Amino acid sequence: MPILEIRDLRKTYRSASHELTVLHGVSLTLDEGDTCAIIGPSGSGKTTLLGLCAGLDDATSGSVKLGGQALEKMSQDERAALRNQLVGFVFQSFQLIPTLTAVENVLVPLELQGMSGRERDAEELLAQVGLEKRLDHYPLQLSGGEQQRVALARAFIHRPRILFADEPTGNLDADTSGPIVEMLLRLNREAGTALVLVTHDPALAARARRVVRMGGGTIIGEEEHASR
Ligand SMILES: Nc1ncnc2c1ncn2[C@@H]1O[C@H](COP(=O)(O)OP(=O)(O)OP(=O)(O)O)[C@@H](O)[C@H]1O
Ligand SMILES: [Mg+2]
Repeated sequence: MPILEIRDLRKTYRSASHELTVLHGVSLTLDEGDTCAIIGPSGSGKTTLLGLCAGLDDATSGSVKLGGQALEKMSQDERAALRNQLVGFVFQSFQLIPTLTAVENVLVPLELQGMSGRERDAEELLAQVGLEKRLDHYPLQLSGGEQQRVALARAFIHRPRILFADEPTGNLDADTSGPIVEMLLRLNREAGTALVLVTHDPALAARARRVVRMGGGTIIGEEEHASR
């Protein structure tokens, strides 16, 4: 069974005076454990597509199935529960909670599912991304690269079946990006998580088995590599 099935997905943003169609019928199927990069110019709808796939926003029409369940048939609460269970997310801007320490940030996805007492697991994951000496630091006390490593640990703590990463190295310099990319791909591979990775970096895109190119709100091309 595919982990993600998108069928003819459309999104129109409406305001009082304007209508802007950003996605014009996107279809894509991703198998469990597979990796897919999404590339394309600024404004082509990549972030919008990720938000719809993760159930963060409503499509105008079309269907998104996550783990076989159609998001458009679910209530907001049901969608949130499914997201907490199946999905990890890494953003360009880290999105850590400023009032929580590194360990506490990593524990958030578990707490959303009502699980407690997993501090050891959070510390273990933080050690895997090289932050064993930063467990009790707050986001403001961490560098950008360190914050993104906390975000990686947070994305994997609940063993998601699919990870969405939206330009995960977009706010980092080249020296900091390299290790972050390696950590992301390693955690992903070890956990057998499917990956959808939006990036402007061709070298990073080439690390995925599939590379999907978007343009003007649709998929305009795809390449597949035998292995990555
Ligand atoms: N909430 C919103 N309301 C209205 N328009 C929006 C909204 N969010 C995005 N858009 C518009 O949708 C289009 C696609 O935006 P999106 O963020 O998906 O592009 P992107 O491919 O991720 O671009 P980038 O590479 O710059 O991140 C843009 O023209 C943007 O202005
Ligand atoms: Mg974007």
